[in-house]
Amino acid sequence: MNTAFIIFGASGDLTARKLIPAMYNNYRKKRLPETVQIIGFSRSPYTDDSFREKMKEAVAAFIPEQFDIKIWDEFARHVHYQVGDIDNINDYRSLVHRMSLLEDHPSNMLFYLATAPGLYSKVIGRLHEASMTVESDQSGFRRIVVEKPFGNDLASAIAINNELHGVLDERQIYRIDHYLGKETVQNVLVLRFGNAIFEPLWNRNYIDHIQITVAESVGVEHRAGYFDQTGTLRDMFQNHLLQLLMLVAKEPPVAFEADALHNEKVKVLRAIREIPAEYSSRYSVRGQYDGYCSAEGVRQNSATETYAAIQVYIDNWRWQGVPFYLRSGKNLKEKSSEITIQFRRPPTQIFDVASGKTELFTNRLSICIQPDEGIHLRFAAKVPDLGLQTRPVDMDFHYRDSFGSNLPEAYERLLLDALLGDKSLFARSDVIEHSWKIIDSIRSGWESEYAPPLFRYQPGSWGPEAANTLIGREGRWWIQDCRGEGQSDRS
Ligand SMILES: NC(=O)c1ccc[n+]([C@@H]2O[C@H](COP(=O)([O-])OP(=O)(O)OC[C@H]3O[C@@H](n4cnc5c(N)ncnc54)[C@H](OP(=O)(O)O)[C@@H]3O)[C@@H](O)[C@H]2O)c1
Repeated sequence: MNTAFIIFGASGDLTARKLIPAMYNNYRKKRLPETVQIIGFSRSPYTDDSFREKMKEAVAAFIPEQFDIKIWDEFARHVHYQVGDIDNINDYRSLVHRMSLLEDHPSNMLFYLATAPGLYSKVIGRLHEASMTVESDQSGFRRIVVEKPFGNDLASAIAINNELHGVLDERQIYRIDHYLGKETVQNVLVLRFGNAIFEPLWNRNYIDHIQITVAESVGVEHRAGYFDQTGTLRDMFQNHLLQLLMLVAKEPPVAFEADALHNEKVKVLRAIREIPAEYSSRYSVRGQYDGYCSAEGVRQNSATETYAAIQVYIDNWRWQGVPFYLRSGKNLKEKSSEITIQFRRPPTQIFDVASGKTELFTNRLSICIQPDEGIHLRFAAKVPDLGLQTRPVDMDFHYRDSFGSNLPEAYERLLLDALLGDKSLFARSDVIEHSWKIIDSIRSGWESEYAPPLFRYQPGSWGPEAANTLIGREGRWWIQDCRGEGQSDRS
């Protein structure tokens, strides 16, 4: 059956930077059926030709190595544009009419909400009003992809879910978190459940603690207006960091299928111990980089955090007592996303630590999500020729060495999955709601009389000193194993 991929917000940044380049690449790799038609919908007065021209420039600019004018020209025949206002029901009727005139008369419809979240509700309502959400064997499937942010607290997330559920079934709704489309993120499950050697050690008996870092080296830049109303906790933790936490902490699913995967994620979120307001300062840190308030679009004297670190516990059989340290911030020293599994010390130390000839060390598994995608395992080795002196060494896996340097963009995989009806890498409504519950509870501590101070930090540093105190209190420290090529600095 033929499929229309309809983008609401087609003249915007996301469409040009991610959606069309991803669809082009899927076409180039011959993963799209010839019968797919892409229809951009927004108010800007493009024609098919001028929209194609704008998208051509975007693809050539954003993925220059993969741009091939011959393939683009073939692909461009599948790209169309319809001028329309999200709030005008007649424009939806024109869209339906337009689709009926297209070659192959698409009957399946995949709607993509690439607009400001404030418009989601209008699109959902109008699609329903125009009878565009009705599925049948004759009319084909109806699916909707919803961009992040999915609400800004539990109440707003529930409100969007209710609106969606009012006109669509949960199985038709695809909530995107592009982090889940990253190869390295998907590889966490393969590492854990595709190998026999890690899983037996993946628990409180062998693991001392786990760290998850998502660091950005840039400041607030062009997203200031949105970010200043949101902050790091809502912008990064509710989705990316909690998603990584769930992948690392969940139990093996009974099958590699969407519901089985989501069921295990929800169990992790439900087991996260709530941080009572009075312990807010003990288990969380918030910071703001110097100069943030003078960025364009930021409120004077804004108290929005650009950095956050939290310590959480998962109260279940596997993880009882193991701290998880999560941190994320803007304007930090390096862009890097990584998960560190820090193992316990060997139960006895038979080598000569006291004399200083041997380093007291622990095993460590570092999963580097970006920039140098790979996995490193640290273990002890004997220094040659020097009695029984030992030193930590690394066993390294780099994606670029094993599979070449061109990892596909997350959106390629996610858009294809949405077209194929695979929801494994999209968020289910209960996962979203549980994660907002956790974030809301931390935020309510931050709004209480026990709120931690808003610590300042220097742009280009690793964040406020208080974050070192948070993790250092129990004799631990933040680890940066994943660096760009040639910059490894393991401790
Ligand atoms: N950009 C990214 O890299 C990125 C990354 C992750 C998530 N997101 C999310 O993706 C969504 C879109 O982001 P963006 O950066 O692409 O935003 P954007 O550049 O501001 O684009 C917004 C789009 O919405 C359209 N629009 C606004 N009002 C409309 C109306 N009444 N009728 C029809 N179209 C309307 C605009 O087109 P007209 O003005 O021509 O109508 C424009 O195409 C947001 O939810 C954002 O949070 C974006």
